[in-house]
Amino acid sequence: MLRNPTLRGDHFKLGIFAANCSSGTAATTIPDRWSATWEDNLALAKMADESGFDFMLPLARWRGYGGATDFEGSTLETITWAGGLLAQTKRISVFGTVHAPLIHPVFAAKQCVTVDHIGSGRFGLNIVCGWNLDEFEMFGIAQREHDERYAFGQEWWDIVSATWQRQDPFDHKGSYFDLKGVVGHPKPWGGERPIVMNAGSSGAGRAFAGRNCDVMFTALIDHERAKKNVAAIKQTTREQFGRDIGVFTSGHVVCRPTRKEAEDYYQWYAVEHEDGPAVTRLMELQGLHSQSFPPDVFATYRTRFAGGHGSLPIIGTPDEVAAELGRVAGDGFNGAAITMVSYLDQLPFFIQEVLPRLAHLRRTA
Ligand SMILES: Cc1cc2nc3c(=O)[nH]c(=O)nc-3n(C[C@H](O)[C@H](O)[C@H](O)COP(=O)(O)O)c2cc1C
Repeated sequence: MLRNPTLRGDHFKLGIFAANCSSGTAATTIPDRWSATWEDNLALAKMADESGFDFMLPLARWRGYGGATDFEGSTLETITWAGGLLAQTKRISVFGTVHAPLIHPVFAAKQCVTVDHIGSGRFGLNIVCGWNLDEFEMFGIAQREHDERYAFGQEWWDIVSATWQRQDPFDHKGSYFDLKGVVGHPKPWGGERPIVMNAGSSGAGRAFAGRNCDVMFTALIDHERAKKNVAAIKQTTREQFGRDIGVFTSGHVVCRPTRKEAEDYYQWYAVEHEDGPAVTRLMELQGLHSQSFPPDVFATYRTRFAGGHGSLPIIGTPDEVAAELGRVAGDGFNGAAITMVSYLDQLPFFIQEVLPRLAHLRRTA
């Protein structure tokens, strides 16, 4: 039973993604790109809370991607960010993101519980097992071979989870940690653990999510593939781990009264004013090089990366944006985290025009 009130129920969940990072997920040089100041984050969280959004999901970054804007170079640390937002909101869930190899599990367990109590059970934990090499170098920690990152993540999570559950001190001796007399009080708020998510895309990442998480995020490349992908994730999780998992995705939204206005704005910020070196770096870090795609496919992907970190573009009128989110729900996704170039300026139109059009998806049974 998930206790976070907004993440309960079978409605299609909506969240705001990456507001803790400068520029959000838009690698653009336009002046109205997102500031990511605390004041703007707080105003955004209150707006999202009051209008019925289900969650805020940050992006844990430790350094920028370079370029003219040093894309995502200024970021608020996600657990403290979540604590601040939870203290000043009423019903929305807020995730914090931990890079497991960078934060000791005993510390992480207590830090998450503290934030969970601040939010009366509305905190969620996103576990990242490893990704960008340059961030690990900054901590002086070697990145493990890919699948071993998830073996480490499993041991890390077992310790966090045991610290949350066990009343008496326990010892832990595994491949990566040798700990004596581990204890942690208080326990998570209300006696149930926070919602846990993972966004790994590999087989090892998916198995980790299936074994441990309530929610997994996966990229939506196209609807046909997504439908099969979501069904496969849910089925495999049920067969292998005997449990259900919620599958979410992310998308970048430009919503304007006319399609032309929306497309012009997208073209303006994501093509004409892309922060080129930052987009190239972002794609290279994900192993996506121009040589690996036909030029037209690469150009499309590049715009997706400049527009919103490679997530689904959701561009158009309120009717079109609502219809596209409806297709996402129709693919079997249980929720979506959205980004915007300038959240505070652009979210009010979405709230006013798109949310009412999604009412049928957002009713709890
Ligand atoms: C919605 C979403 C959120 C993510 N959040 C973070 C994050 O905050 N920090 C990070 O370093 N990686 C983040 N990732 C990256 C994943 O955790 C994962 O490392 C990456 O997708 C590679 O997958 P793999 O480890 O299975 O190869 C995110 C990915 C997605 C799709």
